[in-house]
Amino acid sequence: MFLRRKFLQTSAAGLASLFFNKKSFAAANTALPGYKSHPIIISTWDFGKVANAEAWKVINAGGNVLDAVEAGVKVPEADPKNHTVGLGGFPDRDGKVTLDACIMDGNLNCGSVAFLENIVHPISVARLVMEKTPHIMLVGEGALQFALANGFKKENLLTPASEKAWKEWLKTAKYEPVINIENQHYKKDGSQQLPGGPFNHDTIGMLAIDASGKMGGACTTSGAAWKMRGRVGDSPIIGAGLYVDGEAGAATSSGLGEEVIRTCGSHAVVELMRQGIKPLTACKKVVERIVKRNAAKAQTLQVGFLALNTKGEYGAFAIQKDFTYSVKSAAEEKVYEAESWFK
Ligand code: GLY
Repeated sequence: MFLRRKFLQTSAAGLASLFFNKKSFAAANTALPGYKSHPIIISTWDFGKVANAEAWKVINAGGNVLDAVEAGVKVPEADPKNHTVGLGGFPDRDGKVTLDACIMDGNLNCGSVAFLENIVHPISVARLVMEKTPHIMLVGEGALQFALANGFKKENLLTPASEKAWKEWLKTAKYEPVINIENQHYKKDGSQQLPGGPFNHDTIGMLAIDASGKMGGACTTSGAAWKMRGRVGDSPIIGAGLYVDGEAGAATSSGLGEEVIRTCGSHAVVELMRQGIKPLTACKKVVERIVKRNAAKAQTLQVGFLALNTKGEYGAFAIQKDFTYSVKSAAEEKVYEAESWFK
């Protein structure tokens, strides 16, 4: 009994010191040496454009990089028409909307939530996990309790449109988590082919450098439509859906999370950039690994990576075409189509 109590006291002290270390480390997200004030924000998909614009307001006003990426990705989280992120996200196969998100800065401070229900802004909960707890990741009921204890309100995230699409899917209930292969979601005449059709993108991942050269990133999703209950994808997994290291660069992903988790995809991209490899090539090399191990079914998979190095250079590469990404800096505001393995 004594030993157990002693252990608990020691553990509590250990956790407390971890907590305080995290806080002081968070405050020290150091600027990149020699960085020449060139803020830039990049994010997955064309819907990243409006998210970037919101993040840009923060950065342009001299704000903090994590405030910027959080504000940015909250835009699609709150958009009921976006069926792959936050409110209005397509539910799991039981009709429940479950959300995953994470946030990270260039000093490896990070927070994450997964399998979170009834909260519109999982990214803000992830930020609080980073800042207010000695932990990195909270999931499910525990994440919800933490959110409610911190003033978040419970909301129904299943919109009538998402519920309708789910009921349509239930007619066949074919469990095939094909994800954002744009061409497969349209008939030749352009009309919708699969439930989700024009909206079946997934995940916003956003990467940024602020005016002082600090790096940060955020990633948030409702995950694969009609997934098994309890399924968590890559997006809230540090190193899979997002990785940021102020000494090497930042990367995020979109697509079938299982393949990204297997390869620790975003971490792999960042490690390649650490060796001096440019963002586009780094993304391509990790996509190649995924294609190689899935040789027989690569045609049916989509994974895309987006990367930003410490100089503010960016690039993206995907398995399938039609993976787009949005860029905002003082010099440009554009949506690009990423290069892809299959043309
Ligand atoms: N990339 C999002 C997911 O697989 O959940």
